[in-house]
Amino acid sequence: MSLLIKGGEIVTAGEQYVADIYCEDETITRIDRNIEAQADEVIDASGKYVFPGFIDPHVHIYLPFMGTAAKDNHETASRAALVGGTTTFIEMICPGRGDRPLEAFELWLGKARGNSACDFTFHMGVTRYDEEAERDFIEIVKRGLSSFKVFLAYKGAFGVTDEELYKTLELAKRLGVITTAHCENADLVLELQKKLLAEGKTGPEYHYWSRPPIVEAEGVHHLMTFAEMTGAHVYTVHTSCEEAVRQALLGAQRGVNVWIETLIQYLLLDRTDAEKPNFEGAKNVMSPPLRDKENQPFLWNGLRQGLIATLATDHAPFDFETQKRMGEGDFTRIPNGIPSLENRVDLYFTHGVKRGRIDLQQFIATASTNAAKIFGLFPRKGAIQLGSDADLVVYDPEYRGTISAKTHCMNLDYNSFEGMEVEGRAHVVTVRGKVAAREGQFTGEFGRGRFLQREPNHF
Ligand code: URP
Ligand code: ZN
Ligand code: ZN
Repeated sequence: MSLLIKGGEIVTAGEQYVADIYCEDETITRIDRNIEAQADEVIDASGKYVFPGFIDPHVHIYLPFMGTAAKDNHETASRAALVGGTTTFIEMICPGRGDRPLEAFELWLGKARGNSACDFTFHMGVTRYDEEAERDFIEIVKRGLSSFKVFLAYKGAFGVTDEELYKTLELAKRLGVITTAHCENADLVLELQKKLLAEGKTGPEYHYWSRPPIVEAEGVHHLMTFAEMTGAHVYTVHTSCEEAVRQALLGAQRGVNVWIETLIQYLLLDRTDAEKPNFEGAKNVMSPPLRDKENQPFLWNGLRQGLIATLATDHAPFDFETQKRMGEGDFTRIPNGIPSLENRVDLYFTHGVKRGRIDLQQFIATASTNAAKIFGLFPRKGAIQLGSDADLVVYDPEYRGTISAKTHCMNLDYNSFEGMEVEGRAHVVTVRGKVAAREGQFTGEFGRGRFLQREPNHF
């Protein structure tokens, strides 16, 4: 199987130039001007960009959570990812506190393998820590995962105690594994939730007030303290606001090895979207909550200047009619999540590159290459180099379209970005040398996606 992409403007995190790309079997084998070789598939990329496949470092697909389960499966999620230009995702394994970690790893792997059309790997959720769990984590790292996930929030569900956090970070340091963390102070959230409900404040608009910026900033500060004490490398997931980013940067100034992730939701949606009447705001309930609009330039600047390393989705789809409605009369029961796996790249390109907020190199760095580097996938992924996997996105910057639940691929009855216009779209998407999406249509193969085993890279 050979693939030739002709005449596109190749854009990576560090370069921009016009050339042809020749791929044999699954990898890039030639990059040159005017390659004349025969190929099974030839794609004319003139007038288009050629980007490395995008990487979403934070998605939930199989997710039992808040008395229900996320709606996508690995077929619907990978289809949506590929149509939107994402060729690799990193899913969170989120076992219940009583579950055995190794069994959870096998469960999640079993769900993805044979079903996903794009390549995938996992962050291993640490939702308990004892001797048996520790043995399992060591085994899971041997089997190819090199990142942990802890929740400082969701007390009684996924949340860990400080003792567990300390032990997790000690183990992570010993194994050279990075620990990703959901940072919100769980006790503060619980107390605020109780107070608001007691005052009769039950609608989705009160979700914000149960998790204000200071609660997230405290969570980040807490993580920084533990990372400083253990020397472990950490990554703050879905960092939503200036207060939280500043705590991570203060940690970095003290020598903590920390990387910051934010989400497309926080750049484009705001608190008022979760305050929509008639319970519509529930569609936009996630944790940490959407923030004030005034917060958005800080995040854009952080991405532009490289202070924020990655732009992810935290894709966690719960439908409106049966699942979000579980929280009518009690906002604490609204399943948390705003899905955007399919739309991240186009929205980021439109509102970032087209509006002059970030340049093309930083766009690629934050939506692909940095995640590959942080999570041990580079240069196999996140790069256009000889020997890299031929995961490529031929991107049409002239396309114009409108986001809608009526046309999206995600298995969901709403889209939080409904009606937003996009100025660009993946024209062709390849996964290891094979076309998997073309002009908004999925053409891939379910089950072709491969589990990406990774080596520890955070010593
Ligand atoms: O609201 C969110 N973020 N839902 C997904 C679970 C998590 O906390 O990442
Ligand atoms: Zn989270
Ligand atoms: Zn998440």
